[in-house]
Amino acid sequence: MLEEQTESGQQLISVDQVTLDYGGKGGTSPAIKDVSLDIYPGEFVCVMGPSGCGKSTLLKILAGFIKPTSGSAQLNGQLIDGIDSQRGVVFQNATLYDWYSVRKNVAFGPNMKHVAKKIIDADVKKYLAEVKLTGFADKKVFELSGGMKQRVAIASALINKPEILLMDEPFGALDALTKTQMQNLIRRIWFRSQNTIFFITHDVDEALLLGSRVVVMSKHPGRVIADFPVNFTETILNSQTDSTRYSKSFLQRRKYILNLISQDEEASF
Ligand SMILES: Nc1ncnc2c1ncn2[C@@H]1O[C@H](COP(=O)(O)OP(=O)(O)OP(=O)(O)O)[C@@H](O)[C@H]1O
Ligand SMILES: [Mg+2]
Repeated sequence: MLEEQTESGQQLISVDQVTLDYGGKGGTSPAIKDVSLDIYPGEFVCVMGPSGCGKSTLLKILAGFIKPTSGSAQLNGQLIDGIDSQRGVVFQNATLYDWYSVRKNVAFGPNMKHVAKKIIDADVKKYLAEVKLTGFADKKVFELSGGMKQRVAIASALINKPEILLMDEPFGALDALTKTQMQNLIRRIWFRSQNTIFFITHDVDEALLLGSRVVVMSKHPGRVIADFPVNFTETILNSQTDSTRYSKSFLQRRKYILNLISQDEEASF
Protein backbone atom coordinates (compact mmCIF):
# COMPACT_ATOMS: atom_id res chain seq x y z
CA MET A 1 0.00 0.00 0.00
CA LEU A 2 1.29 3.42 -0.93
CA GLU A 3 0.97 5.81 1.93
CA GLU A 4 2.56 9.19 2.31
CA GLN A 5 1.97 11.66 5.07
CA THR A 6 0.79 14.79 3.32
CA GLU A 7 0.37 17.29 6.12
CA SER A 8 1.64 17.81 9.58
CA GLY A 9 -0.19 19.20 12.57
CA GLN A 10 -3.54 18.53 14.15
CA GLN A 11 -5.99 16.43 12.18
CA LEU A 12 -9.48 17.79 11.62
CA ILE A 13 -11.06 14.40 11.02
CA SER A 14 -9.81 11.22 12.55
CA VAL A 15 -11.30 7.93 11.41
CA ASP A 16 -9.96 5.08 13.51
CA GLN A 17 -10.45 1.42 12.58
CA VAL A 18 -14.01 1.99 11.41
CA THR A 19 -16.10 -0.99 10.37
CA LEU A 20 -19.71 -0.56 9.28
CA ASP A 21 -21.98 -3.55 8.92
CA TYR A 22 -25.52 -2.65 7.92
CA GLY A 23 -26.53 -5.93 9.58
CA GLY A 24 -25.28 -4.53 12.89
CA LYS A 25 -22.88 -6.16 15.36
CA GLY A 26 -22.37 -9.80 14.47
CA GLY A 27 -23.30 -9.05 10.84
CA THR A 28 -21.39 -11.05 8.27
CA SER A 29 -20.77 -8.62 5.43
CA PRO A 30 -19.44 -5.22 6.43
CA ALA A 31 -19.69 -2.41 3.86
CA ILE A 32 -16.34 -1.02 5.05
CA LYS A 33 -13.76 -2.71 7.21
CA ASP A 34 -11.08 -1.30 9.50
CA VAL A 35 -10.86 2.02 7.71
CA SER A 36 -8.46 4.50 9.27
CA LEU A 37 -8.01 7.96 7.80
CA ASP A 38 -6.84 11.31 9.11
CA ILE A 39 -7.86 14.48 7.29
CA TYR A 40 -5.99 17.72 7.93
CA PRO A 41 -7.37 21.26 7.71
CA GLY A 42 -7.31 22.63 4.16
CA GLU A 43 -7.01 19.28 2.40
CA PHE A 44 -9.07 18.46 -0.69
CA VAL A 45 -9.39 14.70 -0.34
CA CYS A 46 -10.73 12.87 -3.39
CA VAL A 47 -11.96 9.36 -2.67
CA MET A 48 -12.14 6.74 -5.40
CA GLY A 49 -12.95 3.04 -5.54
CA PRO A 50 -15.19 0.51 -7.30
CA SER A 51 -18.96 0.83 -7.10
CA GLY A 52 -20.31 -0.60 -3.85
CA CYS A 53 -16.95 -0.42 -2.04
CA GLY A 54 -18.36 1.79 0.70
CA LYS A 55 -17.42 5.36 -0.26
CA SER A 56 -20.88 6.76 0.47
CA THR A 57 -20.99 4.70 3.66
CA LEU A 58 -17.80 6.39 4.85
CA LEU A 59 -19.20 9.80 3.93
CA LYS A 60 -22.43 9.08 5.81
CA ILE A 61 -20.39 8.20 8.90
CA LEU A 62 -18.48 11.49 8.60
CA ALA A 63 -21.79 13.33 8.14
CA GLY A 64 -23.15 11.64 11.27
CA PHE A 65 -26.04 9.98 9.40
CA ILE A 66 -24.94 6.52 10.57
CA LYS A 67 -22.70 5.27 13.38
CA PRO A 68 -19.83 2.82 12.91
CA THR A 69 -20.42 -0.75 14.06
CA SER A 70 -16.94 -0.57 15.57
CA GLY A 71 -14.16 2.01 15.63
CA SER A 72 -14.68 5.75 15.83
CA ALA A 73 -14.88 8.89 13.73
CA GLN A 74 -13.98 12.23 15.30
CA LEU A 75 -14.03 15.87 14.28
CA ASN A 76 -11.58 18.04 16.20
CA GLY A 77 -11.21 15.30 18.78
CA GLN A 78 -14.99 15.08 19.37
CA LEU A 79 -16.88 11.93 18.49
CA ILE A 80 -19.12 12.51 15.46
CA ASP A 81 -22.55 11.85 16.88
CA GLY A 82 -25.46 12.90 14.68
CA ILE A 83 -26.01 15.56 12.07
CA ASP A 84 -24.42 18.97 12.48
CA SER A 85 -24.02 21.98 10.17
CA GLN A 86 -20.28 21.86 11.00
CA ARG A 87 -20.27 19.20 8.31
CA GLY A 88 -21.90 20.38 5.07
CA VAL A 89 -23.11 17.67 2.72
CA VAL A 90 -23.63 17.91 -1.06
CA PHE A 91 -25.03 14.90 -2.94
CA GLN A 92 -25.17 13.98 -6.62
CA ASN A 93 -28.71 15.31 -6.83
CA ALA A 94 -29.14 18.53 -4.92
CA THR A 95 -31.43 18.12 -1.93
CA LEU A 96 -33.27 21.43 -2.14
CA TYR A 97 -36.77 22.76 -1.64
CA ASP A 98 -37.87 23.05 -5.28
CA TRP A 99 -40.77 25.44 -4.68
CA TYR A 100 -38.74 27.83 -2.53
CA SER A 101 -36.62 30.63 -3.92
CA VAL A 102 -32.86 30.27 -4.20
CA ARG A 103 -32.53 32.84 -1.39
CA LYS A 104 -34.82 30.88 0.93
CA ASN A 105 -32.94 27.65 0.24
CA VAL A 106 -29.52 29.18 0.89
CA ALA A 107 -30.77 30.97 4.01
CA PHE A 108 -32.33 27.78 5.41
CA GLY A 109 -29.45 26.73 7.70
CA PRO A 110 -28.79 30.13 9.31
CA ASN A 111 -32.58 30.69 9.63
CA MET A 112 -32.85 27.43 11.61
CA LYS A 113 -30.12 28.74 13.89
CA HIS A 114 -31.93 32.09 14.28
CA VAL A 115 -29.02 34.10 12.91
CA ALA A 116 -29.87 37.82 12.61
CA LYS A 117 -31.64 38.68 9.34
CA LYS A 118 -29.06 41.32 8.42
CA ILE A 119 -26.24 38.79 8.65
CA ILE A 120 -28.23 36.18 6.71
CA ASP A 121 -28.97 38.68 3.91
CA ALA A 122 -25.30 39.64 3.64
CA ASP A 123 -24.17 36.00 3.71
CA VAL A 124 -26.73 34.91 1.09
CA LYS A 125 -25.37 37.65 -1.16
CA LYS A 126 -21.78 36.62 -0.46
CA TYR A 127 -22.26 32.90 -1.08
CA LEU A 128 -24.45 33.37 -4.16
CA ALA A 129 -21.64 35.50 -5.59
CA GLU A 130 -19.17 32.77 -4.62
CA VAL A 131 -21.08 30.21 -6.71
CA LYS A 132 -21.75 32.73 -9.49
CA LEU A 133 -25.50 32.98 -8.93
CA THR A 134 -25.73 36.68 -8.24
CA GLY A 135 -29.05 37.86 -9.66
CA PHE A 136 -30.77 34.48 -9.18
CA ALA A 137 -31.79 34.89 -5.53
CA ASP A 138 -35.49 35.25 -6.31
CA LYS A 139 -35.73 32.43 -8.85
CA LYS A 140 -37.51 29.27 -7.71
CA VAL A 141 -35.25 26.21 -7.59
CA PHE A 142 -37.45 24.26 -10.05
CA GLU A 143 -36.66 26.93 -12.65
CA LEU A 144 -32.92 26.18 -12.51
CA SER A 145 -30.69 23.85 -14.53
CA GLY A 146 -28.93 20.89 -12.91
CA GLY A 147 -25.61 22.77 -12.63
CA MET A 148 -27.31 25.78 -11.09
CA LYS A 149 -29.07 23.56 -8.56
CA GLN A 150 -25.72 22.09 -7.55
CA ARG A 151 -24.39 25.64 -7.11
CA VAL A 152 -27.34 26.43 -4.82
CA ALA A 153 -26.58 23.25 -2.87
CA ILE A 154 -22.92 24.29 -2.48
CA ALA A 155 -23.91 27.81 -1.35
CA SER A 156 -26.43 26.29 1.11
CA ALA A 157 -23.66 24.20 2.63
CA LEU A 158 -20.99 26.94 2.64
CA ILE A 159 -23.24 29.52 4.33
CA ASN A 160 -23.10 27.40 7.50
CA LYS A 161 -19.30 27.84 7.43
CA PRO A 162 -18.74 24.11 7.88
CA GLU A 163 -15.46 22.73 9.15
CA ILE A 164 -15.60 20.25 6.30
CA LEU A 165 -17.57 19.96 3.09
CA LEU A 166 -18.61 16.36 2.31
CA MET A 167 -19.42 15.87 -1.36
CA ASP A 168 -20.75 12.58 -2.79
CA GLU A 169 -20.23 12.52 -6.58
CA PRO A 170 -21.60 16.07 -6.72
CA PHE A 171 -21.00 16.50 -10.46
CA GLY A 172 -21.74 12.90 -11.47
CA ALA A 173 -25.09 13.70 -13.07
CA LEU A 174 -23.98 16.77 -15.03
CA ASP A 175 -23.12 17.02 -18.73
CA ALA A 176 -19.42 17.28 -19.62
CA LEU A 177 -19.31 21.04 -20.11
CA THR A 178 -21.26 21.88 -16.95
CA LYS A 179 -19.10 19.40 -15.05
CA THR A 180 -15.92 21.18 -16.16
CA GLN A 181 -17.44 24.54 -15.15
CA MET A 182 -18.38 23.15 -11.73
CA GLN A 183 -14.90 21.68 -11.26
CA ASN A 184 -13.39 25.09 -12.04
CA LEU A 185 -15.79 26.68 -9.57
CA ILE A 186 -15.08 24.34 -6.66
CA ARG A 187 -11.34 24.49 -7.36
CA ARG A 188 -11.35 28.29 -7.10
CA ILE A 189 -13.54 28.24 -3.97
CA TRP A 190 -11.22 25.73 -2.32
CA PHE A 191 -8.02 27.50 -3.34
CA ARG A 192 -9.27 30.85 -2.06
CA SER A 193 -10.96 29.67 1.14
CA GLN A 194 -8.72 26.73 2.06
CA ASN A 195 -11.88 24.86 3.13
CA THR A 196 -11.45 21.19 3.90
CA ILE A 197 -13.23 19.03 1.33
CA PHE A 198 -13.98 15.28 1.27
CA PHE A 199 -15.03 14.54 -2.29
CA ILE A 200 -16.17 11.18 -3.67
CA THR A 201 -15.81 10.63 -7.39
CA HIS A 202 -15.63 7.70 -9.80
CA ASP A 203 -13.86 9.93 -12.33
CA VAL A 204 -10.07 9.57 -12.09
CA ASP A 205 -9.49 12.81 -14.02
CA GLU A 206 -11.75 14.69 -11.64
CA ALA A 207 -9.86 13.33 -8.63
CA LEU A 208 -6.52 14.44 -10.08
CA LEU A 209 -7.81 17.76 -11.41
CA LEU A 210 -9.25 18.78 -8.04
CA GLY A 211 -7.59 16.94 -5.17
CA SER A 212 -4.66 17.76 -2.96
CA ARG A 213 -4.79 14.10 -1.98
CA VAL A 214 -6.30 10.97 -3.46
CA VAL A 215 -7.54 8.05 -1.38
CA VAL A 216 -8.32 4.78 -3.18
CA MET A 217 -10.55 2.16 -1.58
CA SER A 218 -10.62 -1.55 -2.36
CA LYS A 219 -13.64 -3.45 -3.60
CA HIS A 220 -16.26 -4.54 -1.07
CA PRO A 221 -15.66 -4.51 1.88
CA GLY A 222 -13.91 -1.20 1.43
CA ARG A 223 -10.45 -0.66 2.87
CA VAL A 224 -7.98 2.10 2.05
CA ILE A 225 -5.47 0.67 -0.44
CA ALA A 226 -3.69 3.87 -1.52
CA ASP A 227 -3.40 7.34 -0.15
CA PHE A 228 -1.13 9.94 -1.73
CA PRO A 229 -0.80 13.68 -2.30
CA VAL A 230 -1.44 15.29 -5.70
CA ASN A 231 -0.69 18.80 -6.70
CA PHE A 232 -2.04 19.95 -10.03
CA THR A 233 -4.31 22.73 -8.79
CA GLU A 234 -1.86 25.61 -8.87
CA THR A 235 -0.57 24.70 -12.33
CA ILE A 236 -4.16 24.48 -13.59
CA LEU A 237 -5.08 27.84 -12.06
CA ASN A 238 -2.02 29.48 -13.59
CA SER A 239 -2.50 27.92 -17.00
CA GLN A 240 -4.63 29.30 -19.81
CA THR A 241 -4.97 25.87 -21.42
CA ASP A 242 -5.91 22.40 -20.22
CA SER A 243 -2.38 21.12 -20.89
CA THR A 244 -1.94 19.94 -17.27
CA ARG A 245 -4.14 16.91 -17.81
CA TYR A 246 -1.90 15.77 -20.66
CA SER A 247 1.35 16.22 -18.73
CA LYS A 248 3.54 13.21 -18.04
CA SER A 249 3.08 13.33 -14.28
CA PHE A 250 -0.71 13.63 -14.59
CA LEU A 251 -0.91 10.67 -16.98
CA GLN A 252 1.38 8.60 -14.75
CA ARG A 253 -0.81 9.21 -11.71
CA ARG A 254 -3.89 8.46 -13.80
CA LYS A 255 -2.49 5.14 -14.98
CA TYR A 256 -1.40 4.21 -11.47
CA ILE A 257 -4.89 4.75 -10.02
CA LEU A 258 -6.68 2.97 -12.87
CA ASN A 259 -4.31 -0.01 -12.58
CA LEU A 260 -4.87 -0.17 -8.87
CA ILE A 261 -8.65 -0.21 -9.21
CA SER A 262 -8.74 -2.67 -12.12
CA GLN A 263 -6.23 -5.06 -10.50
CA ASP A 264 -8.34 -5.05 -7.37
CA GLU A 265 -11.51 -5.76 -9.36
CA GLU A 266 -9.86 -8.51 -11.42
CA ALA A 267 -8.62 -10.17 -8.26
CA SER A 268 -12.25 -10.91 -7.38
CA PHE A 269 -12.89 -13.03 -10.51
N1 LIG B 1 -28.80 1.25 3.90
C1 LIG B 1 -28.17 0.14 3.53
N2 LIG B 1 -28.54 -1.06 3.99
C2 LIG B 1 -27.89 -2.19 3.64
N3 LIG B 1 -26.81 -2.22 2.84
C3 LIG B 1 -26.38 -1.05 2.34
C4 LIG B 1 -27.03 0.20 2.66
N4 LIG B 1 -26.37 1.21 2.03
C5 LIG B 1 -25.37 0.61 1.36
N5 LIG B 1 -25.37 -0.72 1.53
C6 LIG B 1 -24.40 -1.69 0.98
O1 LIG B 1 -23.11 -1.31 1.44
C7 LIG B 1 -22.13 -1.45 0.41
C8 LIG B 1 -21.44 -0.12 0.18
O2 LIG B 1 -22.39 0.82 -0.35
P1 LIG B 1 -22.00 2.33 -0.66
O3 LIG B 1 -23.24 2.99 -1.13
O4 LIG B 1 -21.31 2.90 0.52
O5 LIG B 1 -20.95 2.14 -1.85
P2 LIG B 1 -20.30 3.21 -2.83
O6 LIG B 1 -18.83 2.94 -2.85
O7 LIG B 1 -20.75 4.57 -2.48
O8 LIG B 1 -20.91 2.78 -4.24
P3 LIG B 1 -21.23 3.69 -5.54
O9 LIG B 1 -19.91 4.00 -6.19
O10 LIG B 1 -22.05 2.77 -6.42
O11 LIG B 1 -21.98 4.90 -5.09
C9 LIG B 1 -22.87 -1.99 -0.80
O12 LIG B 1 -22.72 -3.39 -0.83
C10 LIG B 1 -24.31 -1.62 -0.53
O13 LIG B 1 -25.20 -2.52 -1.14
MG1 LIG C 1 -21.87 6.03 -3.45
